[in-house]
Amino acid sequence: MSSRNRITPLPFSGRHVEARVVTDVRDFPLTGRVIVVNLDTTPAYLARLPRTPIPAFSSTIAVDSTLAQAKAVVLLQVLDEQPVSGITDEPGWQHFTDIAGPDAFPRTTPLYRSARAEVGTVRFDPHAALGATHPGSRPRDFTVRLMLWYCPPDTACGIHNRHDFIETHAQVVGHGRMQKFADQEPASLYEDVLMSPGYATPVPFCGIGPDTTFTYPWHQYKADTDCVWLAVEYHLAD
Ligand SMILES: [Fe+2]
Repeated sequence: MSSRNRITPLPFSGRHVEARVVTDVRDFPLTGRVIVVNLDTTPAYLARLPRTPIPAFSSTIAVDSTLAQAKAVVLLQVLDEQPVSGITDEPGWQHFTDIAGPDAFPRTTPLYRSARAEVGTVRFDPHAALGATHPGSRPRDFTVRLMLWYCPPDTACGIHNRHDFIETHAQVVGHGRMQKFADQEPASLYEDVLMSPGYATPVPFCGIGPDTTFTYPWHQYKADTDCVWLAVEYHLAD
């Protein structure tokens, strides 16, 4: 089928990280170490037995393998370019203050974001996907946006609790954490999710209301080393 294995290079693909989206995947070869992030709610599978899923929103590192089946995945390959911090010199990267504005994000926090890519639509029931039951729940279309983030070691990227989308994160380079807090104070930390390369937070942090509003706990990304991670945003489209 001609529509199979449709490859979309991503605008933040560059000297440090090669990044592409592949949709309607059948028997797609993966050379070397490739981080596979499942963008869809249906499982993805490597071509090995026993057949075990790469579940919704989660990821793995495939090594000289074949992706047997997937609806939509991001494939990320870390290249040898050093230092990792040089990624912010690539086209499209900005300090987050220059994106959010100085009132919304402090220039003193060294958090950088790549260009954003809108890569199409994924359809799923958000209540079912977020583990909530609601009598009126139904499949909805979500526009998927992808971007990379970078920060240097020991950066706390800012405790926040508002998004009008579902977000997940996959670690690409380095070691960091996604953290949850009872309030906006760092001392109120109540959950610490360690992130190593190839690991994604497969359970989005948000809850969902009957009217499809998303409720987030106070949360932040914190880097232990130089970190590059992928953010996946699902924006309600219908
Ligand atoms: Fe967030």
